[in-house]
Amino acid sequence: MHQFSRLRRLRNNSVIRKYVSENSLDLKKFVYPLFIRFGSDLKEPISSMPGCFNISLDNLSREIEDIVSLGIPGVLLFGIPERKDPVGSDCYSNDGIIQNAIKVIKDVAPELYVITDICLCEYTDHGHCGIVEDGIIKNDDTIELLARSALTHAAAGADMVAPSAMMDGQVTAIRKAFDANSFSDIPIMGYSAKYSSAFYGPFREAADSMPSFGDRRAYQMDPSNRRMALLEVENDIKEGADIIMVKPALSYLDVIHQVREQCNKPLAAYNVSGEYSLIKAAAEKGWIDEKSATLEVLNSINRAGADMIISYHAKDLAQWIS
Ligand code: PBG
Repeated sequence: MHQFSRLRRLRNNSVIRKYVSENSLDLKKFVYPLFIRFGSDLKEPISSMPGCFNISLDNLSREIEDIVSLGIPGVLLFGIPERKDPVGSDCYSNDGIIQNAIKVIKDVAPELYVITDICLCEYTDHGHCGIVEDGIIKNDDTIELLARSALTHAAAGADMVAPSAMMDGQVTAIRKAFDANSFSDIPIMGYSAKYSSAFYGPFREAADSMPSFGDRRAYQMDPSNRRMALLEVENDIKEGADIIMVKPALSYLDVIHQVREQCNKPLAAYNVSGEYSLIKAAAEKGWIDEKSATLEVLNSINRAGADMIISYHAKDLAQWIS
């Protein structure tokens, strides 16, 4: 007579545990975010993100060689320009920081997959993700500039663009511009469900992109909403996004799971800066084991249903699972 079932039988040793494991982490699913800053000979540690750096163009080749040798298949680029201004000019200049970075990367590692973040906040002096008029972030003027930025990135050789400004119609604007300029083959990854999150704090220090007034709640999503995320995702798919994203990842695993269940487009999850820094800080204090905590977190994002994971942990992961 069985009074209970002995599930522990399948945990007796590592061989059987592996046989019954339902998911595993594959470095080929990871994207590593990189910060490229104007200047020379920079490899500036980002104090709030131990292990991450602001790198100047002249040091980029060496960094890229490291990334390739670790087996990381792709990067997501963020730029910090020499000068910020009210309209974020560097973001859509042919000679901007990211446009130049793409060329450097494609020279040293043509096979490394280059995704670029498309947003104004790293380029505007007020730190908002769009054009500001009377304290309002102007949607329709902004999406024109985002499309211009995407075109310059595509022309420089980017493999994919990822609009993150949370402006309505940003994917449509970019898709239209691409189709009109013979870039129809370049995919768009929409930051579809991007929440207004406190977990972007360390990133904003790295990119020097803290808004100088107000916050981003007039365009990024309210953390209490789930159905709204599905609407955002549906919209991005209608607008022509090839990949959709949920961001951040950890506080939104339910959203990742539900999007995975309801949509057939490939899904990316962004394991953001604050999620990374929490683990790094606790590990530095000796309060958690960094490797097992990180693997547990990355497994949770994978198990929730993400196809692609954007994570600052990618370099560490490469070393752990090689
Ligand atoms: C640009 C952008 C941000 C992040 C990615 N793209 C910052 C923001 O919205 O304030 C955050 C990424 C991270 O925290 O790792 N809009």
